[in-house]
This record gives sequence, structure tokens and C-alpha cells, in this order.
Amino acid sequence: MAQCCINPSILSADFANLEAELRRISNADAVHVDVMDNHFVPNLSLGLPVVARLQEISPVPLDAHLMIEHADRWAPAYADAGVASVTFHAEASIAPIKLARELRARGAKAGLALRPGSAVEPFLDMLGELDLLLIMTVEPGFGGQEFLDLTLPKIRRARAAIDGSGFEVALQVDGGITEDTIWRAAEAGADVFVAGSAVYGAADPAAAIDRLRAAGTR
Ligand code: DX5
Ligand code: ZN
Repeated sequence: MAQCCINPSILSADFANLEAELRRISNADAVHVDVMDNHFVPNLSLGLPVVARLQEISPVPLDAHLMIEHADRWAPAYADAGVASVTFHAEASIAPIKLARELRARGAKAGLALRPGSAVEPFLDMLGELDLLLIMTVEPGFGGQEFLDLTLPKIRRARAAIDGSGFEVALQVDGGITEDTIWRAAEAGADVFVAGSAVYGAADPAAAIDRLRAAGTR
């Protein structure tokens, strides 16, 4: 049985106490950091200077999710800051293969993200360039939204393609993941789960991570 990864999103954490909030999730596999520019998504969160500092103090590796336009221009700096995994949106990149190679060359894992309405098929030929494929299970921009079941067939198709490719690519889902929904994404083939409100909305975030991990392990 493969144990799944739980990456809490600090979007739902207390932004005035991020160091303490990171300590509360030290049993997580990584911390998911949502970068938003108010253009690619209608919300603004944090950017490179904050991410670079979090990277220095975090007890777990950083999993940056860049919801920003002009990914080709901005994403490499996150790899340069030492972020372990950098995920950019397919819809925001002009040259995703070139960008994935650039991220890997700078020592980061390369991740490609898809909005709920974006097809995965045009990107299957580049699985060998990726360490992570992120299928958004809500429209990106805000925490606390409801899981979109219509993304399940896409998760299944991505799982089949990854298994058939022979490449090691993590299949991440992000948005609306709770103890009630995680099994659906796990059953469809996801193995890395981002959870914001389900972790930081819980009285004991570390215990919530353990419960999610148990529920998401196939
Ligand atoms: C949404 C972000 C998510 C968000 C998830 O655009 O990408 O990472 O924090 O929050 P929940 O788990 O509350 O849906
Ligand atoms: Zn995210």
C-alpha cells in the first residue's frame, strides 16, 4: 500500500504567524504555498520575498503553486530561492517544456498545473519533463471551495497515462480536499493531496494531517 502525501496549504494559515503555523504541520510531507498575482486568479496572496524566507525556516520542503501570469518569466526565481517543488500553470506558460527543463536545471522539481476546465491530453507527451502534475479540483483563487467531482475522469486519465509512461510523476489534487472527499480523488489515482481549510481549520492540524493520510491511502 503506497502511503499518500499530505501537503497543507498555508493559504488557510494565520499570515501574521507563519513560522508558528509551519511548526504545527511538521508531520506533513511538504507545505503548499499558493502564490497569486490578482491577474491569473482574482486574489492576491504572497510572493517571492516571503516564499524565499519561508523556505529558509520551514521544517518541511516547500511545494510552491504559482497562480500567476507570465510563468516563464517568474517561476525560475522560485527554484533559485531553493524551493523544492515549483508548479506553474499550463494556461500561464508560453513554453512549458522549456520552463520545466529550466526549473529542473535549477535544482527544483517541475510541476505543471491545470485548471478544472483544461484538458490533460495536450500535455501527456511532456510527462517525462515533469515531477508533478497538479489537477485543480476547484477553480483556483480561494480556499474553502467545494470539491468538483467533474474532475475525477481527468484524474483517472492522468493516472492511466502516468502509469503507462513509465515516468515517475506525482499526481497532485488541490481544492476542496477533506476527510469526506479525499477518498474519491485517491480512488481516481491521485497520490498527493493539498488541503488548506481541512488542516488549518482543524483544532489540531497535525492530527488532521494524520486522518487525511489514513483516508487517502489506497
Ligand atoms: C486554491 C489554492 C488551494 C487552496 C486550497 O486556489 O490553490 O491550494 O488553498 O484550499 P482548500 O483545501 O480549503 O480548498
Ligand atoms: Zn494551491
